Amino acid sequence: MYQVKCIGILTSGGDAPGMNAAIRAVTRTAIYNGIAVKAIYRGYKGLITNEITEFKTQSVSNIIQQGGTILKTARCMEFKTPEGRKQAYDNMMAAGIDALVVLGGDGTFTGARIFGQEYNIPIVGVPCTIDNDLYGTDYTIGYDTALNTIIESVDKIRDTANSHERLFFIEVMGRDAGFLALNSALASGAEAAIIPEIETEDDQLESLIEHGFRKSKNSSIVIVAESDITGGALGVAERLKKEHPEYDARVTILGHVQRGGSPTAADRILASRLGSAAIDALLDEQRSIMVGVVNDTVCYVPFNEAIKDEKGVNRTLLDVLKILSI
Ligand code: F6P
Repeated sequence: MYQVKCIGILTSGGDAPGMNAAIRAVTRTAIYNGIAVKAIYRGYKGLITNEITEFKTQSVSNIIQQGGTILKTARCMEFKTPEGRKQAYDNMMAAGIDALVVLGGDGTFTGARIFGQEYNIPIVGVPCTIDNDLYGTDYTIGYDTALNTIIESVDKIRDTANSHERLFFIEVMGRDAGFLALNSALASGAEAAIIPEIETEDDQLESLIEHGFRKSKNSSIVIVAESDITGGALGVAERLKKEHPEYDARVTILGHVQRGGSPTAADRILASRLGSAAIDALLDEQRSIMVGVVNDTVCYVPFNEAIKDEKGVNRTLLDVLKILSI
């Protein structure tokens, strides 16, 4: 049986609150099990440019509460080329790294799957993205914090919406997934969520207008998921202005504020649990898998399943949202 002696850890793609808590958990669990840890800066880019440093337990002190990632992150085009991956492999070997733990989302795992197969390297992924769009885990690290950031902002917008008796379209992130939009709409008491999963089957703006989204209320909030399919909040507002100029609508795009901030307790716990599980998975001789939590139980999901576009929002929540907005 081959025992991993030294892991490399990197964060890649969009950052997510809780990544630092996961870095801490991976590092400390590895060291606890006698495995050395090499930190790779700036994701796959740092593997190619050889930005690699040894991590000790103290290297991850006082970071559990910090947003962002102490390892920095990047979206790396060079890693998509065989030459880039060859350079990455050579640097990895020179640093004595025999397995990788990668923290990120679908782009990160797509790269990991190809690299792991090409060079026969054990790689384990930890799901970190505010979008929650990975199959095989109920939640991704960063999603809960982003959700809480959104509702804090929507609560503030509600004050002014109410004073001016206005309609607001608030755009949230999600990269073609409606988890943040749907659940933040429920949690903030919004009238509706316009999400890409439904927009292809149903014209959500039209049905909102038909049912009269202001009714007896003097202000309304509609959460719109960013996506070419929904057209984003600006697209929806533009359409409304053209078709129903009687509405006085405003648009707020929350943007990158959703990616920052100190992680919530739920994200810190998930990150600690999954970071630790990533090392357990390597000790179990797992490779090319993501660690996830389903029904409160840690599970291993092959990369190609995790990145499949199959998670799907819970559609019954749309019905609840509709009922609660009467
Ligand atoms: O995947 C996380 C995410 O924040 C998406 O919700 C969003 O579409 C994208 O990243 C934005 O990426 P960038 O920060 O590179 O503009």
